[in-house]
Amino acid sequence: MADKQNIQWFPGHMTKAIRRIKESLRMVDAVAEILDARIPYSSRNPDIDRLIKNKPRLVLLNKSDMANPNVTSRWVRFFDKSGIKAIPIDCKSGKGVKLVMPAVRELMQAQIEKWNQSGMTGRSIRIMVVGIPNVGKSSLINKLAGKTRARAEDKPGITRGNQWYTIDGNIELLDTPGVLWPKFDDKEVGEKLAFTGAVKDQVVDIELLAVRLLEVFTRCPNTLFAERFKLKDEKLEDYTPYELLELIGRKRGMLISGGEVDLERAANVLLDEYRGGKLGRVSLELPEEV
Ligand code: G4P
Repeated sequence: MADKQNIQWFPGHMTKAIRRIKESLRMVDAVAEILDARIPYSSRNPDIDRLIKNKPRLVLLNKSDMANPNVTSRWVRFFDKSGIKAIPIDCKSGKGVKLVMPAVRELMQAQIEKWNQSGMTGRSIRIMVVGIPNVGKSSLINKLAGKTRARAEDKPGITRGNQWYTIDGNIELLDTPGVLWPKFDDKEVGEKLAFTGAVKDQVVDIELLAVRLLEVFTRCPNTLFAERFKLKDEKLEDYTPYELLELIGRKRGMLISGGEVDLERAANVLLDEYRGGKLGRVSLELPEEV
């Protein structure tokens, strides 16, 4: 899996996207960094982090509906301690989204006062929205700016041009293309990005990925997962993750000729259901204790 992924993780258009973000930074007052609440560390691009440097910043922990709420609260505290306000949001239902604009105004309060004192009363606040592909940038802009303004793409890695959206009269949002990590050597980060669908399935070994995800579910048993795959009466620790994938395929009747399990299909179903939040609210990483 590693070799196949290593080549594809940072295609040419990502380099262009980083360049475009760098150029656009001059035009904005602050940055809203959207992270996946299930993988706040792995979905945080260190290149972007370096680029943003001293700009005021807000972290939005999106897809919080699919993350464990206790773990998300720990991430909020973690960012808080490093001086960054983080807000859990769910752009599917809209939960938490109404807190974003007031937080932007609060973040920019000192600057707004300076503008007012220098006669620039009413100047728009310009915010750049950054995040990896598929993390929910379009969905957030849709929620904030109205339905038809931004189109949600259903495939990761699609490059879009920079675009401005006006919110609440005097806040302007700049959408940027999604940028993935260039960190080729960190297999775990890559895997987590693939579990959540940020890395295209074409570039990963889907069965191996499913087996790795099953290791997570075996370590932290989850009732919903056991119910969905009819595993309630099974002792998960009796199976290797690979055997578990086979069992899942069998229980769901995914057989090919000769009665063998169609492992690829089972792997796709498992990943789809995890990505769709059907296997419970499972966070894949914890913050370091601070
Ligand atoms: P992007 O611009 O950053 O690339 O991401 P985009 O908004 O296109 O969202 C990618 C997928 O993630 C979409 O699903 C979107 O609905 C889903 N999504 C975004 N925010 C949330 C959230 O907070 N919770 C959940 N559960 N899902 C979220 P899709 O399957 O590609 O399309 P569709 O389901 O909208 O048809």
